[in-house]
Amino acid sequence: MPIRGVINVPGDKSISHRALLISSLIPGENHISNLSTALDVDNTLKCLNYIGINSYTSKNEIIIKGSTFKCPSKPLNCGNSGTTIRLLSGLLGGLNIPAKLIGDESLSSRPMYRIIDPLASMGINISCDNGLSPIRISKSDKILDLNYKMNIPSAQVKSALLLAGVCSNRKITINEKYQSRNHTEIMLENIGHNIIIQDNRISFNPSNRQIENIHIDIPGDISSASFFIGAACMIPNSDIRINNILINDTRMGFIKVLKKMGAGVILHNKRNINGEQVGDIQVYYKPLYGVNIDEKDIPSIIDELPIIAIVATQAEGMTIISGAEELRYKESDRIKAITTNLKRMGVKVIDKKDGLMIEGPSILNKADIKSYDDHRIAMAFVIAGISSGNYNQIDNADCINSSFPQFTSLLKKIIK
Ligand code: S3P
Repeated sequence: MPIRGVINVPGDKSISHRALLISSLIPGENHISNLSTALDVDNTLKCLNYIGINSYTSKNEIIIKGSTFKCPSKPLNCGNSGTTIRLLSGLLGGLNIPAKLIGDESLSSRPMYRIIDPLASMGINISCDNGLSPIRISKSDKILDLNYKMNIPSAQVKSALLLAGVCSNRKITINEKYQSRNHTEIMLENIGHNIIIQDNRISFNPSNRQIENIHIDIPGDISSASFFIGAACMIPNSDIRINNILINDTRMGFIKVLKKMGAGVILHNKRNINGEQVGDIQVYYKPLYGVNIDEKDIPSIIDELPIIAIVATQAEGMTIISGAEELRYKESDRIKAITTNLKRMGVKVIDKKDGLMIEGPSILNKADIKSYDDHRIAMAFVIAGISSGNYNQIDNADCINSSFPQFTSLLKKIIK
């Protein structure tokens, strides 16, 4: 069944977390429209409410009244959200607010030294248990400047450090090997903070500038849209358009990979909103070919690799994904989750320590899919089922709500 129609998707999850956290720092009322409906973002909001930040909704906006922090008396529950726990740790550490941050089973097994080590080297009193959450922050005597070379490409780490610098008024310099998503630096610069970017080096310089209240309009989430985009690329006769979508270059790796595979993609109405590039994306079916994806491509496609793997099953030839070991530390071990489920569907796939090899084109058989409680694995394999005309059985499809509660209802609208 082809995928056809024109839709909008809810606001971008990464930008939504940042809009909430950065608004919480600015006294008075800050307005955010088109906030993501993801449970992960709701967890960020609940944690902020719990540390004294009031919010209310009015029409299509959420209003955040910033800068009224208090110490939490209970642990802050970040649920399934890596972005919440890591960015909030940077913010609380920088503000010198003692707290304990916890998460669900999946989040409690994800690596935290990547933020603990650099935050501790700033003098922030922060610790965790053998590299895992709970994260504990207690009062620090003195917070210092930081000059940090990142050995793992991670926007969550970069953002936690920048927020720690903003909150403690310390200079932060970060060197990235490959550029990760840059929404934190864009938002901070756009509201008047002193951010300097030279190649892959980002600096925050404290200043006495008065930061005005925020009015942010969040564009649609390209990572949520990627599941529909992937479906339209694979299914003959498909043609969809997704309006008002984020097209920031650090998130467009997926589109670049699809174009390299031969997909039909056209960008319309490019514009700039609050410093972010926004546009409308049209995607239509064309025959696809296998591609090589390597380390330098990974940061800009990290969340789209599950759907790229599904698209690769319908491309002529081998798709080889390398340098993607970070996939093992997401909401599940995504290399294992993709390989297990593709094998169940009858695809020839080989897992490597740092990636996957997928041979296409392949007939996709109906299968029982193990989601590993990972939203992006569940959505990718719903699409795999639809593209073959055989609906897969997914265990715990509810995990999709972590990022995209409207996934099923929007999908129903565009399946023709
Ligand atoms: C995110 C950064 C990425 C991404 C995650 C959201 C963010 O994680 O996978 O879904 O909003 O900063 P890493 O920073 O671990 O690469």
